[in-house]
Amino acid sequence: MFETLELKPADAILKLIGEHRDDTRPNKIDLGVGVYRDATGVTPILQTVKKAEQWLVDNQASKAYLGCAGDPVFCKAIQNLTFGEGSDQDGRITTLQTPGGSAALRVAAGLILRATPDTTMWVSDPTWNNHVPLLGGAGVKLQAYPYYDNERHCIRFDAMLAALRQAAAGDLVLLHGCCHNPTGMDLSVEQWQQLADLLAERDLIPFIDFAYHGFAVDLDADAYPVRLMFERFAEMIVASSCSKNFGLYRDRVGSLSIIGASAQSAAIVNSQAQNIVRTLYSMPPDHGGAVVARILNDEDLRATWLVELAAMRQRLQDMRKLLVAALGETAPEHDFSHIERANGMFCYLGVSAEQVAALKRGYGIYLVDSSRINVCGITQGNVGYLAESIAAVL
Ligand code: LMR
Repeated sequence: MFETLELKPADAILKLIGEHRDDTRPNKIDLGVGVYRDATGVTPILQTVKKAEQWLVDNQASKAYLGCAGDPVFCKAIQNLTFGEGSDQDGRITTLQTPGGSAALRVAAGLILRATPDTTMWVSDPTWNNHVPLLGGAGVKLQAYPYYDNERHCIRFDAMLAALRQAAAGDLVLLHGCCHNPTGMDLSVEQWQQLADLLAERDLIPFIDFAYHGFAVDLDADAYPVRLMFERFAEMIVASSCSKNFGLYRDRVGSLSIIGASAQSAAIVNSQAQNIVRTLYSMPPDHGGAVVARILNDEDLRATWLVELAAMRQRLQDMRKLLVAALGETAPEHDFSHIERANGMFCYLGVSAEQVAALKRGYGIYLVDSSRINVCGITQGNVGYLAESIAAVL
């Protein structure tokens, strides 16, 4: 039976994990997959996560099934974090716990295909490597809108709006809530408002992928686009992830929130989403969600988590500055200032695929072919070598 199958190339991001691990050069640097690393190069378990896990060990009374939508306590806590405390006054938001943000995207794709199978979803060019395989692979029709100018290292906002003006009423527009992956370039508040005007005028539906909540400015500022769209639109979708802001990558914690035009519509959507979940993975794993719920609902843990989150965010900003300063020394004829203007973990370095390959081959520096770098891989100790290596391949 399996003779009919062909070898599938590994995922462009995930393959870098193994390539970096197997590289024996002592000065190798991993700027690939999007995980946070501290100044010592470690992806730490947050102290608040450890405390919440201990609390669960001591207090969790059962591991019986919770059902397709996961833990309602987690769902409510994430809903409040995303849309604001007490935002669901009229019961229009329905939230399901999902195994990571990816499963939220996949369940949303299933819902879209059930509700409006012929609709098109517009995705940014470029977007996260897995958006197109995941959503397109599920059967959703996709079309790209321009987003990033590779030459000028900025957002092609006018071109983005022009493309979305061509969208048909009822089409969905996939947006990155903050820390655009892969470019790190986010719309300004004014641009979000202009975009919301256009989506409303053209009757388009916002679908926000919210994987880096808290990694750009702070929890409220980062949620601005979500809350703006929530205020203005009768229907929208939000896929969110706790991988990064709680450091729970391998525990697979995410959620899918759907806004319906009414509480009744939200209840119907919820029933359909639960049915999709039942046929895909039956129900989400509980542990990571229980940890998040505990942190968000305990005053002390929540306060400490905010400090831990701010420290991660600060380190990302510091490493951007450090790299730009180092490149100013080693490659003064090139302008890398866009690295500092980006948010979150990623930005494009702005070098060619050949130069990316040369960095990997010649220097043991791993980044995605598009030249996306994860700035968490930078440390005080390796930034000099990194900047010299980049200068050498330019
Ligand atoms: C990334 O973009 O590197 C992360 O979101 C991890 C992943 O699954 O691709």
